[in-house]
Amino acid sequence: MSEPPRTWDPNLWPPFTQIATSSPPQEIVSGEGALLLRNDAPPIIDAISSWWVTLHGHGHPYIANAIANQAQELEQVIFADFIHPQAKQLARRLSQITGLQRLFFSDNGSTAVEVALKIACQWWQNRNEPRRQLIAFEGAYHGDTFGAMALGERNLFNAPFENMLFPVSRLPWPATWWGDNKVEKKEQLVLDKLEQLLETPTAAVIFEPLVQGAGGMSMVRPEFLQQVEKRVRQAAALLITDEVLTGFGRCGTIFAFQKAGLQPDLISLSKGLTGGFLPMGVTMAHEKVFSEFVGKDPNLTFWHGHSFTGNPLGCAAANASLDLLLDNPNQYENFESRHMPHLKKIITHSKVKNVRLTGTIAAFDLNVDGASGYLNTAGQIIKSQAMKNNVFIRPLGNVVYLLPPLCISNSQLEKCYWAINKSLESI
Ligand SMILES: Cc1ncc(COP(=O)(O)O)c(C=O)c1O
Repeated sequence: MSEPPRTWDPNLWPPFTQIATSSPPQEIVSGEGALLLRNDAPPIIDAISSWWVTLHGHGHPYIANAIANQAQELEQVIFADFIHPQAKQLARRLSQITGLQRLFFSDNGSTAVEVALKIACQWWQNRNEPRRQLIAFEGAYHGDTFGAMALGERNLFNAPFENMLFPVSRLPWPATWWGDNKVEKKEQLVLDKLEQLLETPTAAVIFEPLVQGAGGMSMVRPEFLQQVEKRVRQAAALLITDEVLTGFGRCGTIFAFQKAGLQPDLISLSKGLTGGFLPMGVTMAHEKVFSEFVGKDPNLTFWHGHSFTGNPLGCAAANASLDLLLDNPNQYENFESRHMPHLKKIITHSKVKNVRLTGTIAAFDLNVDGASGYLNTAGQIIKSQAMKNNVFIRPLGNVVYLLPPLCISNSQLEKCYWAINKSLESI
């Protein structure tokens, strides 16, 4: 079957896309498990869970039914003055799993980060000890709203707004991979720098636990993050983990902070929260954080909210997705063993370096010259070659990665690696 002709829609403005230099998108009519279905063309394996959101697979009937049933009961209600059973249930469950008692709703990953950031800054204000310094990591991505952009790596994506972003102190991210024998030295340099930075009173330290996503599926060791947490505690700063990507089984445990052995004060969640069905963000907060916002003085209040706060459909999807996740921990706990044999083979390829694996996320760098970072074009070649074999990947510059939905079958996963291997011949 040949591919149908593609054109740019005259009314749509696509995200993260320069239409002068990209090819028009393909039209997807439905989704089933790990597959995206087109008219008159073979199914495509969605090997990156549609921007890391699809958790149990496209169109999962259990989540679809939960949303449909909820839509018949209550589709939306203002979340100040009212609450509803799905929100209560979700808050109780996430609070039990994370150990953080309070859940604040927002709309997506960026707003879940904004909320964590605003809560952290106001927490210090409410205690009459205003602290200004925020510490984040090089290579971090926390979203596209202004606060989230400020926290993230300054790069091509936020350059037009550079002079509008507040200052953030930054630490190198001591990324590691299989066979890396310099990791401890890299980590120590960062920890030394962290100690220096923490001499200045610090409101909060934020990172993506275990895996920086958009920064290149860049992985660090739990031991390093534990050392970071130790220093953050000594400095009495707040610890925010951005689990927008890493949450809900992606790293092999429900949340990455658990695998890393941390106990953050604030956690931002989105993407897999609703199984990838509906946009929703939540920020979990420790009771010691919440309690500073309680009092008769209106200035103590967290004056933040969104029209769709606690949307019942999103909550129903999230509860259904949690059911599926908790019913079968095997699906995420043992995902590494599914990637492993393929990675052991691919590591021997001359065009492959820095192989790494955390839970469901497998990545490597292309051993090629050219621009560094996102603008390296080698990944684009791999992407278009893989698409010829109906496998959808979206390399980040020269970083090729797989982040499939949990439901991907062994033969589908094998096909992804086969397509990537074949694509490597083109660079
Ligand atoms: C770690 C992390 N934080 C925040 C975001 C922003 O989430 P959203 O795109 O839903 O605003 C992303 C998105 O990729 C992310 O990976």
